[in-house]
Amino acid sequence: MRGRVTRAMVACGALAFVASAACGGDEVLGPLFTDPTPTGSFAWILPDGFPEPRVPVANPMTDEKVELGRHLFYDLRLSGNRTQSCASCHRQSAAFTDALPRSLGSTGEVHPRNAQSLANVGYQPVLTWANPSLELLSEQALTPMFGTEPVELGLAGLEEELILRIEEDATYERLFGEAYPEDSAVTLEKITAAIASFQRTLISGDSPVDRDRLGEPGAISDAARLGQALFFSERLECFHCHGGLMFTGTVDWAGKSSPESEFHNNGLYNLDAEGSYPEPNNGLFNHTGRSEDRGRFKAPSLRNVALTAPYMHDGSIATLDEVIDHYAAAGRNVTTGSDAGDGRANPNKSGFVKGFTLTPTERAALIEFLEALTDSAFIAEPRFSNPWPPDGGR
Ligand code: HEC
Ligand code: HEC
Repeated sequence: MRGRVTRAMVACGALAFVASAACGGDEVLGPLFTDPTPTGSFAWILPDGFPEPRVPVANPMTDEKVELGRHLFYDLRLSGNRTQSCASCHRQSAAFTDALPRSLGSTGEVHPRNAQSLANVGYQPVLTWANPSLELLSEQALTPMFGTEPVELGLAGLEEELILRIEEDATYERLFGEAYPEDSAVTLEKITAAIASFQRTLISGDSPVDRDRLGEPGAISDAARLGQALFFSERLECFHCHGGLMFTGTVDWAGKSSPESEFHNNGLYNLDAEGSYPEPNNGLFNHTGRSEDRGRFKAPSLRNVALTAPYMHDGSIATLDEVIDHYAAAGRNVTTGSDAGDGRANPNKSGFVKGFTLTPTERAALIEFLEALTDSAFIAEPRFSNPWPPDGGR
């Protein structure tokens, strides 16, 4: 069925457990996805064993579009007051996160959630922490650009101004001409398509754990190997939700028979008998309205996790050591304040978050394994860095 999908099929495949109602329809969207063969001049640069990301037919990969998208991703003109770009909250040095518990928008508004890593985001079938229907990177970009709850880049009402800002720049005149030789007019659609193309190239798969996977002797320490065994054990259960090549159960690639999207409650909060989380972060529930979806979020990929602190959808856990405390205790018991409640007893909590005891050696080994998921070449890769000169003229 590759190459021709319906919206209903996407919803069914991605979300068999929530989408029974959505699975009856047959709204044909046409050929959304490509075959896993490179298009045009573009050649993926993939780590050994990595499949190609799935690419929408309407937005094929080209080197020129990627280069245009990279300039836009790093451009302060993409915020109303010219103080922020996508890269302000998605910094390469932090594996494209912002190191804040919750992000800060261009006008000072605090985002209710933590900025996600964009490493391997092209392999994510659904985007953001808990939205089961946001599938396209080009569509997602509209939220930080034009969203008002919260304000991120603050471009609402400035659509024409944005186009004018881009049009008057000589670098963009060249880049749009190269990326869209047949019709180089600046449009919002081309802007978001190019940013999506750039993001699909943000591929990270050269960590010590990968080099070990590919047989390089001495790539990881004995401690990290012990930590890996614990991570993949039935005692700790981490792999059920953070397994596979991307270290998350939510994954897709070109030619995969159906994208997999999973949302889990890992017992962070429990404000009432229904297992509520602090507003406005009730996870999948905010999109489905089903009580059992309260507190269910996408399990983040654990690639580069040592670089992406603080952790969880609201940045409420500061260190990897404290993350292990959380899982060892089978969830978090908040004893005081407005978030008080015993997350360990959340009715929606996954059965895999069941607690365990680790010796100090085992705990250190688990952390060493998580640290060995860091891909230092990824955060130093010039292709992913800011292309603008330091003064930028912007
Ligand atoms: C103010 C900080 C901020 C800015 C600016 C920002 N982001 Fe984000 N980004 C976030 C936060 C916070 C999330 C989590 C959103 C959510 O769950 O609602 C996120 C999530 C994402 C995701 C989803 C990743 C995943 O794994 O599902 C993508 C893709 C993304 N941002 C791309 C962009 C792009 C492209 C831009 C520029 C057009 C941008 N972001 C600008 C903070 C920001
Ligand atoms: C039932 C599925 C499940 C299991 C089992 C599980 N996790 Fe998670 N993990 C999640 C989800 C979901 C989140 C995000 C939760 C949130 O933000 O509300 C998460 C978040 C994390 C984070 C934070 C990542 C970030 O970028 O914010 C780390 C680190 C982590 N888990 C490590 C582990 C380890 C180590 C284990 C095993 C001891 C484990 N997880 C077991 C589902 C799971």
